[in-house]
Amino acid sequence: MDARRIIAALRDGETPSAEDISWFAKGLAEGYVSDAQAGAFAMAVLLNGLGEAGRVALTRAMRDSGRVLSWDLPGPAIDKHSTGGVGDCVSLVLAPMLAACGGYVPMISGRGLGHTGGTLDKMEAIPGLSTEVSETAFRAVTAEAGCAIVAASHDIAPADRRLYAIRDVTATVESLDLITASILSKKLAAGLDALVLDVKCGSGAFMKTADDARALARALVSTANAAGCATEALLTDMSQPLAPALGNALEVAESMKVLTGQTRGRLAELSIALGAGLLVQAGLAGSAEEGARKLDEALSSGAAAERFGRMVARMGGPVQFVDDWQRFLPEANVILEVTAPEAGVVTAMAGEALGLAVVELGGGRQVEGDRIDPSVGLSDMVRTGQKVEKGQVLARVHAARLETAEAAVDQVRAAISLGGTAPEALPLVLERIT
Ligand code: URA
Repeated sequence: MDARRIIAALRDGETPSAEDISWFAKGLAEGYVSDAQAGAFAMAVLLNGLGEAGRVALTRAMRDSGRVLSWDLPGPAIDKHSTGGVGDCVSLVLAPMLAACGGYVPMISGRGLGHTGGTLDKMEAIPGLSTEVSETAFRAVTAEAGCAIVAASHDIAPADRRLYAIRDVTATVESLDLITASILSKKLAAGLDALVLDVKCGSGAFMKTADDARALARALVSTANAAGCATEALLTDMSQPLAPALGNALEVAESMKVLTGQTRGRLAELSIALGAGLLVQAGLAGSAEEGARKLDEALSSGAAAERFGRMVARMGGPVQFVDDWQRFLPEANVILEVTAPEAGVVTAMAGEALGLAVVELGGGRQVEGDRIDPSVGLSDMVRTGQKVEKGQVLARVHAARLETAEAAVDQVRAAISLGGTAPEALPLVLERIT
């Protein structure tokens, strides 16, 4: 076979055969396709598309370019993937909830990307906990706690690792086909029986419009199902942060409040909505209503919190974490209030700007390899549609130093719009895509 022939076909708007695409993806992992050829391939796919069959072939081939796990557990292997948002700590809440309902959640997660937080960075805000574990440890934690949130090992979808780095420097990240194959190759390599996708849409998401988010959700769902994993997606609102806090330790704290029954709110609501359908797909509930009841019970009985505690302890965190999480989470040196300059209603929140403010505080990476400060971020955030008086707290900034805190106060105030009339309230779940 010849890489040039495959690239030329894509360039001319033809769809190469599944065999050709598999050969190309294998070449990415094995090195017989050059960087230049990979860049040209990515650009041709971005411009002309792969078509449904080509997208499935690329996803399968990238999944199979490395290790594909299989499980021998007493229940189904299931997972959730989010396309990324702000204040989105659903994974920390939902993984133990699903475990408490009889599922096994081998969750291979990522670090922060751009303005969005990363589940691994949040988990590592827990002192002593490491997400870089061996496959043996990954399997043991999954079996014993029912859930394990870990980093991908180097042998998971190596073709994606190489292509992603090339896309990053060739302006080809934005291709629907390439995003789909990239996300799913890693998720499907975890050997899942069922998957739910949380495709976010709005100011804090990568997809700002419902049309773009819907197109991505459809591509992800049809490709994952064609590749043999029962999958559905929810299109969900990201026009404001999901939880009222952003930042690693602060989002762990929000998750603990939900898991220990201190609060419910949108984080619990979305976790239940995502998990209910997944339990049905996995055969652990007869209907979405029954799934939702089981998940609710996992929270109120403390069973999900107990699973979270088991996972944390097995991954090196404090054994008493669930009982005493406030004592263990790091706290920032400086906490400043962002107050309303006038009375009004919160009309909009610029989610991406809020996420970037947290990155600048040191809660995310500006360049690869940056060290993260787990204690920084925003808390006590107002919600869209909320009425505020002049001087009322809109959010609290948690920072390492006064100067960075003051800069963030200005950024956060600018990101929260106040006006005279409440905007139309959006439902949290906009659409279900099967
Ligand atoms: N996340 C991924 O893993 N890959 C993409 O291409 C985009 C987001």
